[in-house]
Amino acid sequence: MSPIIVSHLDHWFGEGEARKQAIFDVNLEIEAGKLTILMGPSGSGKTTTLTLMGCLRAVQSGSVQLLGQELKDASDFQQETLRRRLGFIFQAHNLHNSLSARQNVLMGLQVHGRGDSAQQTRAACHALELMDLGERIDYLPEHLSGGQKQRVAIARALVSNPDIIFADEPTAALDKTSGANVVTMLKRLGEERGTTTVMVTHDNRILDLADRIITMEDGRIVKDSLT
Ligand SMILES: Nc1ncnc2c1ncn2[C@@H]1O[C@H](COP(=O)(O)OP(=O)(O)OP(=O)(O)O)[C@@H](O)[C@H]1O
Ligand SMILES: [Mg+2]
Repeated sequence: MSPIIVSHLDHWFGEGEARKQAIFDVNLEIEAGKLTILMGPSGSGKTTTLTLMGCLRAVQSGSVQLLGQELKDASDFQQETLRRRLGFIFQAHNLHNSLSARQNVLMGLQVHGRGDSAQQTRAACHALELMDLGERIDYLPEHLSGGQKQRVAIARALVSNPDIIFADEPTAALDKTSGANVVTMLKRLGEERGTTTVMVTHDNRILDLADRIITMEDGRIVKDSLT
């Protein structure tokens, strides 16, 4: 079964007179283990769609089935349980400046409360090694480059071995090589662990790496490389 199935999704922002529709009848089925890119102009609804699929925003109308669970009218407990199976990476990498790379990645495990602290530390170090940051485990963010910080954020998102990673412009702050490296690593996770990645990007330089490219305009899907 596809990990994400979206049907007839609509979404509105604002109240009363200011109420405005942002998403119009979005339908999508996303395949497991693949890297799907969501692109389109600013304001076209990419982040809104990603946060609706990622259980970060309540579904108002239509349906999102995430890992077999309907999100519309899902209880807080059901949503919380689902979020534990997801990883999130945002443009602003949101690292804690007072914590080392390893401590930042540990935060991604501590919300899950899984394993004892020695196991968690091993998992955090392993995730950093996977991101080629094995030499930087004890560095503070201020001593890391933009690309290295973004890779710490990715290590934090994948340390709990999520089923799906949602990423919103994870390469925006990176140069071409670091951007491509980040995407290559996400793609490798799909191949090695079956992790599904849905990524919003404006970055034309990394489109070649995607399994599928979906283009949005004015709150609608206007192009899908799969169809
Ligand atoms: N919290 C909000 N309140 C009101 N309107 C919003 C809110 N968030 C988004 N919108 C509106 O919804 C539409 C889609 O916004 P969204 O953030 O999804 O676009 P985007 O494609 O991610 O754009 P960008 O590339 O600039 O990040 C826009 O018209 C935006 O103004
Ligand atoms: Mg956005």
